[in-house]
Amino acid sequence: MKNIVILISGRGSNMEAIVRASQAGNWPARIAAVIANRADAAGLAFAAANGIQTAVVPSREFPSREAFDAALQAEIDRYAPDLVVLAGFMRILTESFVRHYEGRMLNIHPSLLPSFKGLHTHQQALDAGVKLHGATVHFVTAELDHGPIVAQAAVSVNDGDTEDTLAARVLAQEHLIYPQAVLDFVEGRLTVSQGRVSRA
Ligand code: GAR
Repeated sequence: MKNIVILISGRGSNMEAIVRASQAGNWPARIAAVIANRADAAGLAFAAANGIQTAVVPSREFPSREAFDAALQAEIDRYAPDLVVLAGFMRILTESFVRHYEGRMLNIHPSLLPSFKGLHTHQQALDAGVKLHGATVHFVTAELDHGPIVAQAAVSVNDGDTEDTLAARVLAQEHLIYPQAVLDFVEGRLTVSQGRVSRA
């Protein structure tokens, strides 16, 4: 059995989708822990109610990014993770932390990367007037919202869309592609070569 550790900062709906998929299917992996950087992350309650170990490493209480990442890494490594899943984990990570989990850390970003990095991606898409928008699952590299792309889903941008209506349409797709990408990883189907991911 492989161990998956999921990191969240808030609602945790992507974490919930991954947990539900892992419960429903015959996964060769289990969600070993859900760790948040805020005690008020709403997703912690769902994880605990599903018998998953939870922990909080409160980012606010650390004097530096390096100190927080070191503490977070120590907490994550207690669960001997084969895969670390960032699911709405709203932190910029240090290079040393990213390097430690290189090739075994995934993120989901609410845009079709490499477009619209950073925050407010749905507003960025509306402002740019694109007709297609979406979400991307990628391996995490030291560069923000960058790294080999595992999966993407596109949605249409409709006349009259607001940030909220567009976010909801994208989120529904996130809940489909992220569990599948995690399953692909734990089943050993993903290969990264020259910055590109192929799926066996
Ligand atoms: C999701 O839309 C995710 O793509 C985004 O935050 C939301 C978290 O929702 N992540 C980022 O913006 C990362 N830069 P959730 O907590 O319900 O999964």
